Amino acid sequence: MSAQGKPFHILRSGQFDRKFLDHICLLTDHIRRLDKSKDGLLYLNRLCQGKRAMLYFTQPSTRTFLSFQSACQILGLATSEIRDSSTSSERKGESIEDSLRTFSSYVDLIIMRTPIPGFCDKVAQMLDETHRPVPIINGGSGPDEHPTQAVLDIYTLSRSFRNFGGIDGKTIMMVGDLKRGRTIRSLSYLLRYYKNVKIIFSSPDEFKIDQDLRDKLLKSQISFEETRAFEEPLAQADAVYMTRVQDEYDVKGESKSVDYHKYHLKYEHLKLMKPNSVIMHPLPRRDELDVRIDNDARAKYWRQERNGMWTRVALIATVLGADSNVILPEL
Ligand code: NCD
Repeated sequence: MSAQGKPFHILRSGQFDRKFLDHICLLTDHIRRLDKSKDGLLYLNRLCQGKRAMLYFTQPSTRTFLSFQSACQILGLATSEIRDSSTSSERKGESIEDSLRTFSSYVDLIIMRTPIPGFCDKVAQMLDETHRPVPIINGGSGPDEHPTQAVLDIYTLSRSFRNFGGIDGKTIMMVGDLKRGRTIRSLSYLLRYYKNVKIIFSSPDEFKIDQDLRDKLLKSQISFEETRAFEEPLAQADAVYMTRVQDEYDVKGESKSVDYHKYHLKYEHLKLMKPNSVIMHPLPRRDELDVRIDNDARAKYWRQERNGMWTRVALIATVLGADSNVILPEL
């Protein structure tokens, strides 16, 4: 964190506090409002003009990459990208650390996704020791963390519950591969900032949350429950956060032997759910989320995806110190 309480790097969701989340949610509302007029758009476009960002994404990505790229465009930042390390000097035997130090020489910000847990922290630390550190934003670090997804999920939850008392007091059910789903870990850490929230983790035994997350949640005294049940908790949930099997982290195809069918949210389940509940998914989806649900008013995942772009505009503006220039009149 900088002296003003704003982060220099965005590496893990655990670094955010409630004040920061409220700041980003408010900023996102204003950015969305500015986007509605030509003057507003031009205003946003000047906020980071003349600055450059590098998108270093060596793990597959559609939404995160494009939403960050679009967020940079909205703020007037020029971008360069690497999406395959075989096209950089890593192919010539250069270490990833040296490659990233090289990129940092040309840009003002590096946004990165890699399959290696903890790697963003390592790069940030390495750059901090140089004469020209640039901020690092973690766009997903293996099965470990996805802090900007957690922020957009918080924004989506708080918008969805705006007329229902906010996130406080809500029961959030998380379903799927909770062991390797980085969105689950990053979002769960943040829910401790809201009063009387209960998390229900619903998964087969093979995909239960990892001990590190369990320990952190126990320490933070957030109420949570782990269950193999799916339909019973569905009826109690105010929000259901679906996730896919993260089989890219399989060692020997072990996901194939897990019976996952029970954890598919089908159209027929909608009648079990509360009328004002919210259905979320970080996407991409597979069979765990029935496409016939898309037109139900409770389905918020397409909005959640678009919120990703807006919250990333807010996060980049904050990291680059342009957030104070977003005029915040009373909404
Ligand atoms: C998620 C991710 O990459 O962790 N996707 C995303 O960023 N929206 C979820 C996933 O891939 O299952």
